[in-house]
Amino acid sequence: MEVYLDNNATTMVDPEVYKAMEPFFCHIYGNPNSLHKFGAGTHPKMIEALNYLYEGINAADEDDIIITANATESNNTVIKGIWVDKILNGNKNHIITSEVEHPAITATCKFLETQGVSVTYLPVNEEGILEASVVKDYIKEDTALVSIMWANNETGKIFPIKEIGAICKEAGIPFHTDATQAIGKVAVDVQDCNVTYLSLSAHKFHGPKGIGALYVEKGYELTPLLHGGEQMGGHRAGTVDVASMVGMGLAMKLATSPMALAYENNHVRKLRDKLEDAILEIPETIVIGGKDNRTPNTTLISIRGVEGESMLWDLNQKTIGASTGSACASEDLEANPVMNAFGSDSELAHTGVRLSLSRFTTEEQIDYAIKVIKGAVNRLRDISSSYAYTPKNHVSQL
Ligand SMILES: Cc1ncc(COP(=O)(O)O)c(C=O)c1O
Repeated sequence: MEVYLDNNATTMVDPEVYKAMEPFFCHIYGNPNSLHKFGAGTHPKMIEALNYLYEGINAADEDDIIITANATESNNTVIKGIWVDKILNGNKNHIITSEVEHPAITATCKFLETQGVSVTYLPVNEEGILEASVVKDYIKEDTALVSIMWANNETGKIFPIKEIGAICKEAGIPFHTDATQAIGKVAVDVQDCNVTYLSLSAHKFHGPKGIGALYVEKGYELTPLLHGGEQMGGHRAGTVDVASMVGMGLAMKLATSPMALAYENNHVRKLRDKLEDAILEIPETIVIGGKDNRTPNTTLISIRGVEGESMLWDLNQKTIGASTGSACASEDLEANPVMNAFGSDSELAHTGVRLSLSRFTTEEQIDYAIKVIKGAVNRLRDISSSYAYTPKNHVSQL
């Protein structure tokens, strides 16, 4: 049996989405910017897709949604756009973000620091959550942007976006949220949460890879990251990948309908809890950051005495795909910065295994995964040189 438990890295394209994309490769292939019928023939489905995106995040008609290549581009567009508009060409010089953002945010901020920008990386609490009051404490006169993710890719922890949005609104500071891991898992409402900019990536919610979007609230235009043609009203140059845009739109519709969100919150959550509870029956295992306030599909578990990398190897041998952290960081074996941000011991940081489900995960797959994981823990603890000798204080320390 093959079991894919790495849906926070990427998801399978929903077959319905794939089917909707197909005509746009060999039949309806005109450039949407061309004036002839081949170009114009792409428009109805593009408009439909855009409408699905607006509905999926409850954007207002006057707001803008820019099609990008992925969340990385959306995040770069916001942070570098703010840098140009408010820092280089304005009188601000400060950005607030968190210590646990995806590298698409932190690496961009680190780059801006080399250019003289001051960046505050806010810590999370012992549950892995950024408290809204902390954001308020760090806002300064020259703060140009607050950028806080909606849900964390490693832990699934959901941040208090509504409260942070209200704080930013009161302070008159634009608020960006990276909602890449929230779409299709929890309700996302940009108006209710006073969001100014929002990033998303289609491949995280059963859409195709290589396409994403950036929501921009009315009145908050940004200097573009990509200059060139007049596509996207001049906000993002480059011919739009029509097939992918159509796929992203439908994927958004399918993932964010009230029924889909209820399924995620009930059925997917139940399977995740079944998997998690079975692993927690093994002595000296914990859910990193605890069980509260998480996306329903994610668990990040530490199994004392078992290196995350070794566990992945064993799981892979039994055709189960999981992760020790975000796939983007998996080529270096440095402890995961998100786990380090908990301020816990380095063993914890090296023993985390992230299991992330989707609406396509079945109960049979979960049963198989439980069996394999239990066997792998026994095997790896048996051969571990450190396990028997490590003081058994792991659980009490957390
Ligand atoms: C929270 C978050 N932001 C941004 C990204 C980057 O997404 P992409 O690789 O599609 O640009 C990811 C990918 O894992 C993510 O989890």
